Amino acid sequence: MLTLIASTQSNAQEDATWSGQIACIIYSHCSTCHNDGGIAPFSLMSYEDAQASRFAIQHVVTNRIMPPWPPDPSYNRLAHERLLSDEEVSLIDEWVKADAPAGDLANAPQAPIFETNLEISQPDMELNLPIFTVPQDAGEDVYRCFVIPTDEDEDRFITGMEIIPGNRNIVHHVLVYQDTTGVPEALDAADPGVGYTCFGGIGSDGARLVSGWVPGGTAYFTPPRMGVFLPAGANLIVQIHYPEGSEGQVDSTKINLQLSDDMGLRRMENLPLLNHITSIDRWLIIPANTQQTFYQEFTVPFNLSITGIAPHAHLLCTSMTAFAVRPNGDTIPLIHIPKWDFEWQGFYNFRNPIRLPFGTRLHGIATYDNTAENPNNPNDPPQLVTLGEATTDEMMLFFTPVTFYFAGDENIVIDDSEHPDHHDDCQLQGTTSSDDQKRSESLKIYPNPFAHSITVESESTSESFILVISDLFGHEVARLEGFQGLRKIQTSDLFPGLYILNVLDRHGNYIRSSRKLVKL
Ligand code: HEC
Repeated sequence: MLTLIASTQSNAQEDATWSGQIACIIYSHCSTCHNDGGIAPFSLMSYEDAQASRFAIQHVVTNRIMPPWPPDPSYNRLAHERLLSDEEVSLIDEWVKADAPAGDLANAPQAPIFETNLEISQPDMELNLPIFTVPQDAGEDVYRCFVIPTDEDEDRFITGMEIIPGNRNIVHHVLVYQDTTGVPEALDAADPGVGYTCFGGIGSDGARLVSGWVPGGTAYFTPPRMGVFLPAGANLIVQIHYPEGSEGQVDSTKINLQLSDDMGLRRMENLPLLNHITSIDRWLIIPANTQQTFYQEFTVPFNLSITGIAPHAHLLCTSMTAFAVRPNGDTIPLIHIPKWDFEWQGFYNFRNPIRLPFGTRLHGIATYDNTAENPNNPNDPPQLVTLGEATTDEMMLFFTPVTFYFAGDENIVIDDSEHPDHHDDCQLQGTTSSDDQKRSESLKIYPNPFAHSITVESESTSESFILVISDLFGHEVARLEGFQGLRKIQTSDLFPGLYILNVLDRHGNYIRSSRKLVKL
């Protein structure tokens, strides 16, 4: 018995090599940020890079500090989670303990290439922000707003938005608003240079938040049949936060939009349903040398669906939580951020839209530590901090993309993958996860429900698949063979109803469990 255990262990140690497993883990889960020009301070793009930082990697991975993902997955599972599996964490741990063996480098996966990594590579609208140089004498955080005319003659819907920071070393966050009031133009005209200074908000009450970007952020897509309304002639107002230390640096951020002319889309609004007005017992006032917890509650006035959540606070905050209680007493966890981090604020999507029937009570909880013990406290010694837009003030908001509820909303799939897609479909050699599962995970099929077309996207350039769509009687209604990359299947001819999708490898073997598709 003892020998058996010993031999299993030594096998496991032998197994963990850069070429066998670790390259795949690092390239899939780390290199997106840890590359030349990426937002992380050093590259993880080769065996040498990883070997040199192995102890730091072991530390951040086993303590789950990296990849950065502040929400607690045991509270609520979200879409597009940036998490390592337990197996991946222990492989990295074993690898470092075994002195980081390279294995057969000739067989290691190729390092990813990032120039071509845009998610919206053929945008319907491409917006280039003016070139902005952070003033040499700024001496503090700079919040700059840029007014970008869309020059559209007709109303449209935004269904996808990708923000491409120009200078990733200094772009800390980007918020994009839609505005038709003309106020931001006046603010811009009154402020010398390109754009205008804007702390927290953008200075226009009529502006509507579309979405945003934070370090590690990916493109934002609205769920199927939904969009953010973009009225004819609207301006996009883009707020960018350049942190202290960006003085003299230059940025020109880009925004790629995917638009729809379909006026039948459902309108979404990104609203702070939980905000300062909904505080229940007292205003956001945090005396020096105290820790305080604040509560917000909001009763939903219509039948609504929410598709995601973006909690927002500043430096003193230590944790944020939101949940909903339906009129029948069901409690729905929405998000829990146990260690609030001002630098890693996210726009999180739920795996499926969440139904909030009329009378549902939304609850928000946030804790703030205004003592000298809080290393993020901007004041030394601590000072009274109240509600305000400067980074040194505090806030408590939960933004939620929201729309009126339609029957079946909770069945719309925003993302249901168990694990993020791996770079180039790479697999961990000698581990239990099946190759097939890995391959099918790298296939994206959307939207579902669908109307006129389905898009199938394969990240792999080496694998090819066969896709078969059948009706409920097993009759094949569409087939796509030998494709790679991105393809659209026209589905206008199909009757509304339920269909089954199967994915086969190029030899005709089924490689993923059937999936239901709904034609509207
Ligand atoms: C979403 C972007 C992102 C991803 C993904 C990511 N990192 Fe990082 N990493 C950063 C940034 C940014 C920093 C700089 C410190 C910070 O801002 O938290 C960092 C810092 C680090 C550090 C230094 C930690 C320290 O305390 O100085 C290590 C080590 C590290 N990352 C390893 C990894 C590993 C290993 C992975 C994959 C398992 C990974 N990172 C994934 C963005 C990322």
